[in-house]
Amino acid sequence: MYTFAIRKTQEEDREWIKRWLKFQWGAEIVIVHDQIYHPAELPGFIAFEHVSPEPIGLITYLVTGQECEIITMDSLREGAGVGNALIEAVKERARSCDCSRLWLVTTNDNLSALRFYQKRGFRIVKVNVGAVDRARKQKPEIPEIGDQGIHIRDEIELELIL
Ligand SMILES: CC(C)(COP(=O)(O)OP(=O)(O)OC[C@H]1O[C@@H](n2cnc3c(N)ncnc32)[C@H](O)[C@@H]1OP(=O)(O)O)[C@@H](O)C(=O)NCCC(=O)NCCS
Repeated sequence: MYTFAIRKTQEEDREWIKRWLKFQWGAEIVIVHDQIYHPAELPGFIAFEHVSPEPIGLITYLVTGQECEIITMDSLREGAGVGNALIEAVKERARSCDCSRLWLVTTNDNLSALRFYQKRGFRIVKVNVGAVDRARKQKPEIPEIGDQGIHIRDEIELELIL
């Protein structure tokens, strides 16, 4: 069985988080729903294998009032429970902050994320048509074509009521 652990991100993690984001998403910043975020500055959780300190998963989030937004979510060992464990860690954190809503935005091409979140109880609550096309003007690193050759254009908001 594949074993790994989860811990909170710390101040010392900031530099590799920036490198990770650059590698995974092309830049240190994330633009969603027309807002710019710096995930390395946000709280988060990392997953790592017991045998190696190398991170295999990262989730960052932002609590605002009674809402918790997942800003980034990445697993480098897909299908081994890493994504699930990261979501559970943020869910627990959000509940402990008295949040009533956990939410995130993904893109129209990201069919595996849409499957992943919906299987965990998240509902699609909004489609922001053309939001990625607008974000690409500020962040040209965002590719035109995404998963399975789908043109990346729109944002899809999903939420889980806690
Ligand atoms: C979406 C994403 C985060 C999922 O992460 P993951 O680590 O593959 O997720 P998990 O392994 O927990 O779950 C994936 C599947 O593996 C299965 N699985 C396999 N082995 C498992 C194990 N030992 N324990 C739990 N689940 C396991 C799960 O049942 C799950 O299937 P389901 O979704 O049909 O229920 C990942 O695909 C990813 O990083 N994608 C690229 C970045 C991205 O799109 N991020 C989201 C942006 S919003």
